[in-house]
Amino acid sequence: MSINYAEKIPNNVDLADDRALQRALEHWQPRFMDWWREMGPNDFAGADVYLRTATGVDAEGWAHYGTVKMPDYRWGIFLADPIADRTIGFGDSFGQPVWRQVPGEFRSQFRRLIVTQGDTEPASVEQQRRLGHTCPSLFDLRNLFQINVEEGRHLWAMVYLLHAYFGRDGREEAEELLARHSGDADKPRILGTFNEPIEDWLSFLCFTYFTDRDGKFQLKSLAESSFDPLARTCRFMLTEEAHHMFVGETGLGRVVRRTLEVMKETGSEEPQAIQRQGAVDLPLLQRYLNFWFSSSLDLFGSEVSSNAASAFANGIKGRPDEATQYQDHVCADSSVEMEMPDGRGGLKKETVGMRNAMNEVLRNAYVRDCEIGLKRWNTQIKRAGFGFELRLPSSRFRRAIGAWANIPTDTEGGPTPREEFDRGLPEWIPSAADKAHVKSLMRRVVEPGKMAGWIAPPERGVNNLPVDYEYVRLD
Ligand SMILES: [Fe+2]
Ligand SMILES: [Fe+2]
Repeated sequence: MSINYAEKIPNNVDLADDRALQRALEHWQPRFMDWWREMGPNDFAGADVYLRTATGVDAEGWAHYGTVKMPDYRWGIFLADPIADRTIGFGDSFGQPVWRQVPGEFRSQFRRLIVTQGDTEPASVEQQRRLGHTCPSLFDLRNLFQINVEEGRHLWAMVYLLHAYFGRDGREEAEELLARHSGDADKPRILGTFNEPIEDWLSFLCFTYFTDRDGKFQLKSLAESSFDPLARTCRFMLTEEAHHMFVGETGLGRVVRRTLEVMKETGSEEPQAIQRQGAVDLPLLQRYLNFWFSSSLDLFGSEVSSNAASAFANGIKGRPDEATQYQDHVCADSSVEMEMPDGRGGLKKETVGMRNAMNEVLRNAYVRDCEIGLKRWNTQIKRAGFGFELRLPSSRFRRAIGAWANIPTDTEGGPTPREEFDRGLPEWIPSAADKAHVKSLMRRVVEPGKMAGWIAPPERGVNNLPVDYEYVRLD
């Protein structure tokens, strides 16, 4: 299905055929633009940015690259093509035809899921809105803006579903998505991680590595949904989302590469010596990884969850790659064993019905995916001749949601007395001194091809252009 750009709202859903819906969305559009101007990267509204815009929804050649000012970006509604005769892939209705409408009995569950997903998209734009001022290069600046406009589009994706399938409630929720703001004391965003400030580029790279990857897993499980418009919406969002994680993975890899260069030049692994050379020492990087990884783990919810069980049973939210990764798509009688806190500072084994364990199934798949980048960076470190190893902390570490919420453990997940935890924490997550050092590195570099001293250049530019292309022309 090709995208119609002649309309006010680009779309591939025949919006012009539904006048009421079109009018409602055209009414929301200027509010979105107000929000973008107020809460987005608006200090750069006049900059010419080399951006991709979706032109189709096929895997091949789906995007067009060109120079645009961000407020002129064509945000629109793009769903992946329907799969003919698609049937429900999991849960109690396994094998039956998928739904084109939301069944009344699941309406509130669907609405909550769509609103929660939708809330994260503008939240990240708000979190990242000041970063442009301290960009390490024009290449990185362009990637930031690409992510920002696409998160804006993901908001459109969810707002479309709310308007098209949830009537008045949906329209109200769409307004609320613009009214909550990241970190706002009165009206914060729904999920914790999306209220954490992102004030420096190291945090941004960790966020795109860990938190956008949470997004990937949420979208992958919603892409399995029996509600076909939601599944198709999420499938296309995943195409865009891949770039966000790419920015995180290659970005952190470039930080490691630069640090290794400095370690070789100075002949030292001492954090202070590395910091004096204006780079990020590996133990400091480890603390940033610990922070963003543990924060992102909470986004998967409780280890044991009746909500997750009913979302699976009812065909609302599946598992990533349900068809290819699992044999049993109903999970009515299977169970898993989990290690849980025993309430006395120790561990106990617990048998949990598989449906109730779906959040943990998803979280485990996520953790495995997170490990891929670390393996790659550790290979870089080893090849450079150093013994340091970056590691993911245990998924019990520093949790605020679920069975391990507020249970002090060390980074290995071993239950730890409270005082020991309080004493250990400054060495496990970024300290004030770490943040001050990272802040001191954040100097704006905007000469084409030049990089800040704390990050190595990328291996290649965007869309086959050279690294020193002028990806952003500042006004
Ligand atoms: Fe997104
Ligand atoms: Fe993203």
